[in-house]
Amino acid sequence: MQLSDRVNRIGISPTSAIVSEAERYRARGVDLVDFGPGEPDFPTPDHIKRAAIRALDENRTKYTATGGIAPLREAICRWHAGQFGSSYGASECAVSVGGKHAIFNIVCSLINPGDEVLVPVPYWVSYPDIVKYAGGTPVFVATDPADGFRLHAENVLRAISPRTKMLLVNSPNNPTGAVVTPGEFARIYEVCRARNIWLLTDECYSHFTYGACKPFSLASVAGSKPHIIVAGSLSKTFAMTGWRIGYTLAPEPLVAAIIKLQSQSTSNANSIAQYAALEALTGPMDSVAQMLAEYARRRARIVAGLRAIPGVTCNEPDGAFYVFPNVSAQLRNGIADTSALARQLLERAHVAVVPGEAFGALGFLRISYATSMERIEEGLRRIEKFFAVAVPAS
Ligand SMILES: Cc1ncc(COP(=O)(O)O)c(C=O)c1O
Repeated sequence: MQLSDRVNRIGISPTSAIVSEAERYRARGVDLVDFGPGEPDFPTPDHIKRAAIRALDENRTKYTATGGIAPLREAICRWHAGQFGSSYGASECAVSVGGKHAIFNIVCSLINPGDEVLVPVPYWVSYPDIVKYAGGTPVFVATDPADGFRLHAENVLRAISPRTKMLLVNSPNNPTGAVVTPGEFARIYEVCRARNIWLLTDECYSHFTYGACKPFSLASVAGSKPHIIVAGSLSKTFAMTGWRIGYTLAPEPLVAAIIKLQSQSTSNANSIAQYAALEALTGPMDSVAQMLAEYARRRARIVAGLRAIPGVTCNEPDGAFYVFPNVSAQLRNGIADTSALARQLLERAHVAVVPGEAFGALGFLRISYATSMERIEEGLRRIEKFFAVAVPAS
C-alpha cells in the first residue's frame, strides 16, 4: 500500500510494542513479571472517579470547547501556579488528549521542514518520531551515564546550529529518572533564550522526585514565559493514564494554533474525563503523596537488588518510576544487544523490560517499578537466575 511519506517517516512506539507482546504472554496464561509499563499500578483515586460518575449523571456528554472547558483551563493555571509558582491565564492554556497529544500539537504548530529540534539522549521514545512527523530533524544531545545522564547547558550548547528551533527537556526523565536541577535548568534556559530557541519542558513526571529533589517547573523563572512551553499530563501524577488528559501552557498565539489544529483533528478531550481532571486539580492531593512514598520504597529495593546482581550497575534515579541499569557486561553468549537480551528475558525468564535502544542508549534496560513489591522481588530473582544460567561469565 502506498502510504504517505509523513507516516512512512515514523515507526510504532517501541514501548507500545512491548505492552502488546506482554499482553500475548498473559493471554497464554504465562506468569509474567511485567517491568514494561510506563504507567502507575495504582487505581485512579476515588474522589476523581466519583467526579466522572457525577459528570455522567449530569449528562456532561456533549462536545465541549475545543481547548477544554473554561473551569478546567482555569484550574490548570491555578494548580500550576500553586504547585510551581507560574503565572498563566486560561487563554494561555489548552487541554489535550494526554501529554503526548500536547507535545504532538506543539511540535506540529512550530516546526517546519528543515528545522532542528534538540533531543537529549536517552529520550522518551516518541520525541524523535513526533519531530520527524512534523518534517523536522531530531538532533541528539549527549549526556554522560557516569553523571546519571543529567543534562547540562554545555551539552546543549554544543548541539546548537543555525537551524535549531527547539529544545525538548524531560525532567524527571523517562527512561533514566534523571532530574535537571533548578540551577542547571536556568542555565539551559538562558542558552535557549539568548538564541531564540524554544524550550519545551515535558513535566509529565513533575511530582515524582525523591530525597532532596523537589518538584520544579521552569515556568517559575521570572521572564521565562515568552520562551518556554510547558507540556503537562494528569496521567502519572493522578494515576489517570486511561483518561487521556494533558495540557499545554504557552504564549497565547501558540495556544490558539494548537486549538485550531485540535479543531480539525481530535476536537475536545473527552468531556467526562475533563470533569474528572477538574476534581483532580482542585481536590485533595493526599493520594499523590501516598503513591510517591510507595515508589520511594520500591526504588530503594530495586536499586539495591539490581546492584547485587553480578555484571549489573545501576544509578539511583532522582525521579520518575524507572531505573535504567547498565547491563552491557551481560551482552555475551550470542546476545548482541539489549533488544536481544530483552527478548530472551521475556521468552526464557518471563520478565518484560524495555531495551535501551528504544531510548537511543545502548547497553541499558528500562525497568519500571510501577508494580508491587512482591513482583519486584520475583522479577529480581528471575533476572539474577537468568544472567547466571543463560549468560554465565566465562
Ligand atoms: C516523558 C513522557 N512524556 C509524556 C508522556 C505522555 O503521557 P500521556 O499522553 O499519557 O499524558 C509520557 C508517557 O509515558 C512520558 O513518559
